[in-house]
Amino acid sequence: MDTTLTSLGVSVGDILLEFSYLTGAILFVIGLKLLSRPESAKRGNLWAAAGMLLAMVATVAFHKDDAGHSIALTNIIIIVVVITLGTITGTLIARRVKMTAMPQLVSFFNATGGLASALVALIEFSDPANQSTLVTLLGLVIGSVAFSGSMIAYGKLDGKVGDIFAAYMKYVNISLLVVITGLIVYVMAGNMPFETQKLIVYGLLAVSLIYGVLFVMPIGGADMPVVISLLNSFTGIAAAMAGFIYQNEAMILGGILVGAAGTILTVLMCRAMNRSLLNVIVGAFGGGGAGMDKEKGTIKEISASDAGILLAYSQKVYIVPGYGLAVAQAQHVCHELEKLLEEKGVEVKYAIHPVAGRMPGHMNVLLAEADVPYEKLVEMDDANQDLPNTDVVVVIGANDVVNPAAEDDPSSPIYGMPIIKTLLAKHVIIMKRGMGKGYAGIENHLFYHDKTRMLFGNAKDSLQTLVTEVKSL
Ligand code: TAP
Repeated sequence: MDTTLTSLGVSVGDILLEFSYLTGAILFVIGLKLLSRPESAKRGNLWAAAGMLLAMVATVAFHKDDAGHSIALTNIIIIVVVITLGTITGTLIARRVKMTAMPQLVSFFNATGGLASALVALIEFSDPANQSTLVTLLGLVIGSVAFSGSMIAYGKLDGKVGDIFAAYMKYVNISLLVVITGLIVYVMAGNMPFETQKLIVYGLLAVSLIYGVLFVMPIGGADMPVVISLLNSFTGIAAAMAGFIYQNEAMILGGILVGAAGTILTVLMCRAMNRSLLNVIVGAFGGGGAGMDKEKGTIKEISASDAGILLAYSQKVYIVPGYGLAVAQAQHVCHELEKLLEEKGVEVKYAIHPVAGRMPGHMNVLLAEADVPYEKLVEMDDANQDLPNTDVVVVIGANDVVNPAAEDDPSSPIYGMPIIKTLLAKHVIIMKRGMGKGYAGIENHLFYHDKTRMLFGNAKDSLQTLVTEVKSL
């Protein structure tokens, strides 16, 4: 069969390739839509992965270079080997990773995406056929920043890298951004030998990698969510730039979808943390200041049986889940307690802080895993309005997201971050193992407040005991 539609100058392979990319793009969009609800998120992942697989297979089967040659057999073998290795490694890592280490894993994957895009840009810069110098340079910069920044974020989430904060870092970061912009303009405008251009591009790579490290380094404890979502959007944008270099619609679309979703998330996170995006980009907040040295007061404990009675005879209870709930893997027994209390006529809801846990939507995913009905999850602002009519707030493994220093201590690094205002309720029960600090590493005076009672222990064990107590009433 003649595979060339001569009148149009396109081959059947070209049409199949474009059609596969279009189908892949539609699958990405459907996948993204399904990801917006916990019940359909798993399916969403599968749909998007199917779209990616289709785009990859179609590229290998139908792609032709400018001279009309298909991909060489050796390259196909390399591609297949690399995809196989990637699939095996990815599956093993994903299966073995602990739920609590997921945020680190996501940062690591982000880093690899950024690195891949930066490498594409670096290699393609030397190709004389490459017409898109500006896009290539932007891809190189954004990909490198996403790589080094995400590796630092990985280290911070894993507790291996601490915050390094100095007031002058803001000026260093602004200077680096000026140097990066200057180098791009110089390469674009300069009429210099190619070898000199190449040297400048290597310089650009080095400065971008350093900027990625320095802009994430000072971001202090509680502000990490903003930077993580920003890096996520950088990876998407860098992949889209790589797609532009290759004129590959599937890469452009996939990259833009990730970039746009990451950007929207960054804006939401900035709002949730009451921070400005510009401050994040120059690494101008976080670190510094450990908060005011206030009189702490005394800790008042509550026994599981008293806590059980208080809860069972309440009308309305709010549960505030935090990172500790994920660490303890106590979501199922938490749901059991909630059902038990509801059977006794208590209205139970969950107050969800947007940055509770260690990744966006962490608490939603965790509670969905335990089949907690979605309508029971109340967003922070709505929950805060509801708290004055609440008898008991039970804080389970949360710390920073309920720390009143965010409201009443201007010297605190988390000052200005909206919190769940537990003290609006009549009673507060806090379940944690000891007096350990939260991610921001600061004191929490809520634990010493007159309204607060501490129920010490691993969240899963404490909840199990509470369930037994409530059952016995
Ligand atoms: P945290 O402030 O990190 O506090 C968690 C608390 O859980 C700790 O104080 C710890 O106290 C307790 N805990 C740990 N394991 C426990 C267990 N097995 N049983 C009972 N309690 C346990 O958590 P949060 O309130 O959810 O705040 C999240 C923080 O992480 C914020 O600062 C946020 O900005 C930051 N962050 C969030 C993200 C995203 S995107 N969500 C990403 C990076 C960083 P004990 O040691 O005394 O038990």
